[in-house]
Amino acid sequence: MDLSRQIVLERLPQGRLTTDCFRLEETERPSPREGEVLLKVLYVTLDASNRAWMQGPTYRAALTAGGVMYGRALAEVVESRAPGPAPGDIVFAETGWRDWAVMPAGLVQKRPRTAPLSYLLSVYGISGLTAYHGLVDCGRLAPGDTVVISAAAGAVGTIACQIARLKGAARVVGVAGGPEKCAWLTRELGCDAALDYKAGGVRERVREACPGGVDLYFDNVGGATLEAMLVEMKNHARVVCCGSVSTYDGSAPEHGPRGVPGLLVTKRLTMTGFIVTDFAAGREAALAELRGWVERGRLKVPEHISDGLEDLPSALVGLLHGENRGKRMVRIRHPAE
Ligand SMILES: NC(=O)c1ccc[n+]([C@@H]2O[C@H](COP(=O)([O-])OP(=O)(O)OC[C@H]3O[C@@H](n4cnc5c(N)ncnc54)[C@H](OP(=O)(O)O)[C@@H]3O)[C@@H](O)[C@H]2O)c1
Repeated sequence: MDLSRQIVLERLPQGRLTTDCFRLEETERPSPREGEVLLKVLYVTLDASNRAWMQGPTYRAALTAGGVMYGRALAEVVESRAPGPAPGDIVFAETGWRDWAVMPAGLVQKRPRTAPLSYLLSVYGISGLTAYHGLVDCGRLAPGDTVVISAAAGAVGTIACQIARLKGAARVVGVAGGPEKCAWLTRELGCDAALDYKAGGVRERVREACPGGVDLYFDNVGGATLEAMLVEMKNHARVVCCGSVSTYDGSAPEHGPRGVPGLLVTKRLTMTGFIVTDFAAGREAALAELRGWVERGRLKVPEHISDGLEDLPSALVGLLHGENRGKRMVRIRHPAE
């Protein structure tokens, strides 16, 4: 009997996520029925939202305990019993945290065989597209803008910082956790300045780094950093609400950013939330521009890849603790390799 391994979300976390919320189990490898495909999972992507979805329903249903952990992956079609997907095809699918998956053919999305394949999850995947559409379409990034980006050393943030620079921002400032990450953002990713939010005083240091105020704030974190940023925005400035990772790993925050109504009025700010799929119509054009930058060596693609299905729980916990630089993912090893 061929075996397959999978990771079950055994219980929902109380407080911060820990690896003992998960359990690895072996099961019989599934076989596809009519209309289905058998997938060999190659890379599983870790996203901050994986944790947010444990808190309750959002634009999708909440994750519940007892089943295979939800996860998106890049996989190879090994067997197809449906028109369309063929053996050898590379696809993106919501396989969950498992090394083999059977899925309805209609739920897998074919992808080109890019080298390296991992780019399909980072710069050409949800992270890269979120950075692009968030800044360009939602944030209406304009040449000459002073731009601040939080979670700047993460998957979305690293790409967003570079897009801001490539699109002519006058000043790009990253906010990230720790002095090493901040030094890396200025040394490697072209940020003009980077602020360690863990050292406190975000508001004062944003003011130092952006003395004329901020035109566009790309908010990945919410909470105290968002609160500080609202004060430092120029009149008529834009805040792009991409996510609020500071609120994901634990119980709900006691209060949101204070001062929102007053500052929105007096500074005539625009705060816009978005989900990357809102911009599906512009996806191909965005990918073409991203590909052009990558191929001309103008856009770096930081990735943090570890090996083995069993590493997924600690990879997600690590992401929430800020261990990653760039896109976090796990490469799935298969016995014959
Ligand atoms: N709107 C959309 O369609 C969309 C799509 C994808 C992702 N997102 C959002 O984009 C954001 C980034 O997601 P990602 O998957 O790219 O994750 P990521 O940035 O790769 O990783 C999360 C980062 O958040 C930082 N962080 C953790 N706790 C924090 C806290 N309390 N305060 C401030 N920063 C904290 C950590 O870096 P530090 O070391 O800097 O703390 C960590 O590396 C998330 O809010 C996510 O929900 C939105």
